[in-house]
Formats: sequence, C-alpha cells, structure tokens
Amino acid sequence: MKITVLGTGAVGRAVAGRLDDLGHDVTMGTREPAATAGREEHAAWATQHAGVRLVAFAGSAAGADLVVNALGGDVVLDNLALVGPDLAGRILADLSNPLDHSQGIPPRLFVKDDDSLAERIQRAHPDARVVKTLNTMNNAVMVDPAQLGESSTVFVSGDDPAAKAVVSALLGELGHTDVIDLGGLETARGPEMFLALWVRTAVALGGSDFNIKVVRGPSLRG
Ligand SMILES: NC(=O)c1ccc[n+]([C@@H]2O[C@H](COP(=O)([O-])OP(=O)(O)OC[C@H]3O[C@@H](n4cnc5c(N)ncnc54)[C@H](OP(=O)(O)O)[C@@H]3O)[C@@H](O)[C@H]2O)c1
Repeated sequence: MKITVLGTGAVGRAVAGRLDDLGHDVTMGTREPAATAGREEHAAWATQHAGVRLVAFAGSAAGADLVVNALGGDVVLDNLALVGPDLAGRILADLSNPLDHSQGIPPRLFVKDDDSLAERIQRAHPDARVVKTLNTMNNAVMVDPAQLGESSTVFVSGDDPAAKAVVSALLGELGHTDVIDLGGLETARGPEMFLALWVRTAVALGGSDFNIKVVRGPSLRG
C-alpha cells in the first residue's frame, strides 16, 4: 500500500519504519523536511529506511491509500490543516492522544467525556475516513505486539466499515491478533480516556513495555 505517516517523532519513526520493512511504499510528513532530516535521531533512523521519503505536510497525502496520524495531540488540527485537501476520501488512522502536559505528571486530557480528539479531527475533515487505533500502547508494542510474548488487544473505532477493515488488516500485518471493533467514531472516547489508566500503569510498573488484554469469559468465546 501507499502509506503516508504524518509525524516524525517516536511513533512516526516506529510506524513508518515497520511499514517500510513490511514492503509498503512509505512517505513521512513533517513541518520542515531539511530540519527534520538534520536531527540526529532522524538521521540515524533514515540510514535504515532509505526508501522512505520525507516531505512537507502540504501535499504529503496525495495518492495515499492510507494516512497515519502520528502527530502530537495538541498540534494535530493545525498540522492536518497544512496537509490540505488531499485528506478528502482518505483513510486516516489516528494514533494520537489528547494529552495536556502543562500541569506535569500525570498529563491531563484536553478533551474527554462528551467528545474526543478523533471526533474533532473528523469534524475538521468531514470527508476523511477517520479510524482511531493503536493509541493505547507504546510505539514499540504498536509495531511488534508479538514481542510481549502473548496475545494482547487493540481497538478500532470509526464510522466507515470499509476503512476499519483496511486498518484492521494492517494491524494484522503488524502482528495484532485481537482487534476489537468498538463501533462508530464516538467510541474513540473510550480508548482516549484509557490513557488516564495507561499513564498510571506505566508509572506503577516503571516502564511502558506492556499492553492490555481483554479476556473473554465462556459466554463471550466464539
Ligand atoms: N510515544 C508513544 O509511544 C505513543 C504511544 C501512543 C500514542 N502516542 C501519541 O502519538 C502521537 C505522536 O507521539 P510521538 O511521541 O511520536 O510524537 P510527538 O513528539 O508528540 O509529536 C511529534 C510530531 O508532532 C509534530 N509537531 C508539529 N508541530 C509541533 C510543535 N509545535 N511542537 C512539537 N511538535 C510538533 C512534529 O513535527 P515535525 O516532524 O515537523 O518535528 C512531529 O512530527 C501523540 O499524539 C502521542 O500522544 C504516542
């Protein structure tokens, strides 16, 4: 697939790198390609992923079969506006979290309960096919859940069943074996608010190398 990953942070690099390794045609979107290419952490990563193109946000989604949002939650809407009209009709896998770090640890959520960041993105880009997923685990687990040593759970939320099917198939390529379709995009409020528990679990465990596993009782086993 032709995939554009928006974001060059830890998530962008992990996802773009793994998709490149899987043989996808990957483009990465950033604010200033030259500045990003010059960053030590990006340069080291790029030597392993020479086939991944690094381009400015504007036009980065043109022709993509799938766009991955790996942008900081507080800058998502401004940056997606830079991507421009190419988001119309595109599947947009949203991995971002609405974290507000301004008051220290644990971070607060700047949207919750009656709305979500995924819904804000959908409202700003009504013709995009937004699917919330993968925001409930760290980037290493996102792209290689098998390293945990046992099956764990990932969620998808979205209003477009065909878009969710494409994203779910890609999750399978990454190694996710338990994909729970929560329903429409409104259900993204659940996995986003899960961050309140995720952060506290990471602090308690002393690290983020974990994921949750939904264990079905006998009445729910198919
Ligand atoms: N880190 C994880 O393991 C993890 C796990 C689950 C979910 N998430 C979510 O995934 C998203 C990406 O996380 P991340 O840790 O990879 O990246 P991040 O450091 O939060 O975000 C980096 C990206 O945001 C862009 N950006 C645009 N304007 C910015 C500004 N004014 N200040 C700072 N960055 C700006 C950067 O653009 P440039 O490329 O131009 O620098 C870069 O591409 C976040 O929403 C996060 O909550 C992260």
